[in-house]
Amino acid sequence: MRCLFVLCWGVLAAASVAASAPDLSEKEQTAARKLYVAKCAKCHRFYEPTNYTEPNWQAWMGKMSRKSKLKPEQENLLTRFLNAYRAGQVSAPR
Ligand code: HEC
Repeated sequence: MRCLFVLCWGVLAAASVAASAPDLSEKEQTAARKLYVAKCAKCHRFYEPTNYTEPNWQAWMGKMSRKSKLKPEQENLLTRFLNAYRAGQVSAPR
């Protein structure tokens, strides 16, 4: 039973990564890293997004997007980038 659970979890995790992998182009990733350095890192260090639970992280992103005065399209790009980072698809913006 335990084995089956681990197997299912593995398959699901692999499927979700595969489904969302091509989400960001190289160009978008470069733009998102620049955005992070310019907008977020001016106030504080890089807080490791994977240290937060999903709802906690989304709440911080909402609060911090307002603090950074991000335009809607900038917030969208940075949110997608950091979600991809949380999923292990892109490297950190440092
Ligand atoms: C104007 C300054 C400022 C900007 C810009 C800013 N932050 Fe923050 N950030 C703060 C401060 C101050 C805190 C301390 C917690 C609070 O605001 O309640 C914080 C807290 C955080 C935390 C939680 C840290 C903890 O204690 O666990 C995260 C995550 C975070 N910021 C991410 C970001 C991201 C991502 C961006 C860019 C979109 C950003 N911040 C932009 C000032 C800023």
